[in-house]
Amino acid sequence: MIIGGDCLKRDDFFMLGSDIVYFDNGATTLKPMVLLDAISDYYNNYSANAHRGDYSISLRVDEMYERTRYLVKNFINAKSVKEVVFTSGATDSLNKIIFGYFQDKLGAFDEVLLTRSEHASNVLPWFELADRLDLCIKYIDLDENYEVTMENVKRAITDRTRVISIAQISNVVGDVRPIKEIIEYAHERGILVVVDGAQSVPHMDVDVQDLSIDFLAFSAHKMCGPTGVGVLYGKEELLNNIRPLIYGGGMNASFSDDGVRIYKDLPYLLEAGTPNIADVIAFGRVIEYIDKIGIDNIMRYECDLKRYAVSRLEQNKNLIIYNKNSRSGIITFNYDGIFAQDLAIYLNKYNICVRAGNHCAKILKDEIKVKNTCRISLYFYNTKEEVDRLCEVLSNPNIKNEII
Ligand code: ALA
Repeated sequence: MIIGGDCLKRDDFFMLGSDIVYFDNGATTLKPMVLLDAISDYYNNYSANAHRGDYSISLRVDEMYERTRYLVKNFINAKSVKEVVFTSGATDSLNKIIFGYFQDKLGAFDEVLLTRSEHASNVLPWFELADRLDLCIKYIDLDENYEVTMENVKRAITDRTRVISIAQISNVVGDVRPIKEIIEYAHERGILVVVDGAQSVPHMDVDVQDLSIDFLAFSAHKMCGPTGVGVLYGKEELLNNIRPLIYGGGMNASFSDDGVRIYKDLPYLLEAGTPNIADVIAFGRVIEYIDKIGIDNIMRYECDLKRYAVSRLEQNKNLIIYNKNSRSGIITFNYDGIFAQDLAIYLNKYNICVRAGNHCAKILKDEIKVKNTCRISLYFYNTKEEVDRLCEVLSNPNIKNEII
């Protein structure tokens, strides 16, 4: 049974007023009107720069911008606002963590542990760093359901392991990794853990203190927020050792012609240049919106809806579902004999949006033995009726003829 009727906030989304069935929330979510209102409010009423002016509207910008930082701090339960840095997205955050922190801390033959189901943003920066520093990239094996188990994490760790960099929820398999246990085990061995929270923070409670996360990256646009805003969280003592990758206005306190310069403290040190002010402010409104719905309600609702969707989809014997049991709103599947992209194009004819391809997790094919899949990724505004419509369209006996 689907519970959490309160979660069905469909009226808040202009795009849901059309006939569209939007099942691509893992790529980006739809935007509630509260976001648009906050953006127009800034541009119409107080569109000054941040942290630079002494006049009223500029001071209001500072207040609103920092208010979002405070809301993010509370949302992930960081200890201090100094630990919350705004970036352009999870990819930017991961790159800043990997090149700004680990480039100076790792050396030849140090081992970095990933999984083969990581997104490109948590693989390619590590490959680049490995080339520069002669690091060894190793992988935690996935189990028969393509999930990460503690047993396999323990097996992959050696006395050269320095970092584990892992998504809390994989964007293809949708498995919720045992992050707390991984971190506890890693910390006992002096290993740091970077968490890619792109698919978890929008859907489940992520308490960085409870989990003792060292670094966390996530994006606003996957949680009803704007594109172009992300968060880099790091424990203060670690962030204090990060080297900025971008220098300029806003991050320095003073400099002189002989090259002497004094930089600002966290978090401004890592936010050079005029930030994405309107969108950061609007992200604050969205966090309040999500908080009102309740992140636990969102997770519960999505898991219930996923179970319902799987129970309906598995009645169609042409479908191969790769992650029936993973505990998130992601379902990855193929239709026997139909190329994944062709299926997505077919579904589009019925106004159903799903993602097809490798979903930026390009080495997962080595594990699941298939290069392309279709993916449904749910959010709190999706409904059983939408799932029914998908199942009906997939049961079309003429499906193959319609695709040709
Ligand atoms: N990372 C996004 C996805 O999984 C783009 O679709």
